[in-house]
Amino acid sequence: MEIRDRDLFLVTYPRSGTIWTQQILSLIFNEGYRNGTENIYSIERAPSIEYNIDNYDFNSRPSPRFFSSHLPYYLMPRDLKFRMGKVIYVYRNPKDVLVSYYHFCKMNPRIKYTITWETLLDLFMSERASIGSWFDHVRGWYTHKEDYSILLMTYEEMKKDLHSSVLKISKFVDINLDDKAIDTIVKKATFNNMKQNLLAIDKFVSNYIFDQTKGEFLRKGIVGDWKNMMTVSQSAIFNKLYKEKMGDLPIKIVWDL
Ligand code: A3P
Repeated sequence: MEIRDRDLFLVTYPRSGTIWTQQILSLIFNEGYRNGTENIYSIERAPSIEYNIDNYDFNSRPSPRFFSSHLPYYLMPRDLKFRMGKVIYVYRNPKDVLVSYYHFCKMNPRIKYTITWETLLDLFMSERASIGSWFDHVRGWYTHKEDYSILLMTYEEMKKDLHSSVLKISKFVDINLDDKAIDTIVKKATFNNMKQNLLAIDKFVSNYIFDQTKGEFLRKGIVGDWKNMMTVSQSAIFNKLYKEKMGDLPIKIVWDL
C-alpha cells in the first residue's frame, strides 16, 4: 500500500477505545461537528486496512486519508516506518480489554460458539485469543515508536482528562481549534453522550452487525471493571504474567483511576 504524507492511521488492539477515538477525530476534522459524517459507516469513513471487506480502492481516495487498523506494527504498510503518514496508537490496560472483549464476544453473531470467562482468560493469557496477543501488540508498537510519526495515547488518560486528550490529538493532526470547538468535542465524546446518540456516532456499530439484545458496543466505558470479573487469584496470575512479558519496559499501565 502506498503511503502519503497526510495519511492518518488510528491503530488499536481491539476493545481499547477505537470507536471513541474515531468519534474524537471525526469531530476534530469538522471543528466540533459531524457534518453528516455520522451517516457514513466507520468502515467507509476510516476503513480498516486489514478487513477491507467492501474492497475499497484506497489509492483513489483523496487526501487526507483516514484509516483504522488492529494490526501489529510489523504488518503495517512499510512506508509508514519512514515517518510518512501519522499513527495514533491507543492502548488500554489489558484486564479491562479482556473484560470488554468477553462481553463483545457475546454480542458478535460471527462468534458462533459460547465462550466462558475462564476459557477466554486462558486464551488471552496464552496469547491464543482470536484477536492476537495483547502483549505482542503493545510491546511492538511501544518499542518501535521511534520509527514512526506516532502519538501514543491511553484509554485511561482519555478517561481521566478528555479535554487535554482532545487538545493533544488535535495538535498532533495539525488542526488548531478554538476553546469553544474543543469544549463541544469533549461534550460530544463523553461516554454518556455517545451512548445516548449511538446512531449519531455510527450506524454501523448501532445496528449493522451486532446483536444488541445480547449486549452493547458502548458497554460501561470505565477503568477498572476487571475487578468485577476477575477473582483475586486470576488477577494475581495475570499480574505475574504481565511482569514476565512487559516488566522490562518503562511503559506505564493504569489499572484503576
Ligand atoms: P467497555 O466494554 O469496557 O465498556 P473499541 O471501540 O476499541 O472496540 O473499544 C470499545 C470499548 O471502548 C468499550 O469498553 C466501550 O464502552 C469503550 N468506549 C467507547 N466510547 C467510549 C467513551 N466515549 N468513553 C469511554 N469509553 C468508551
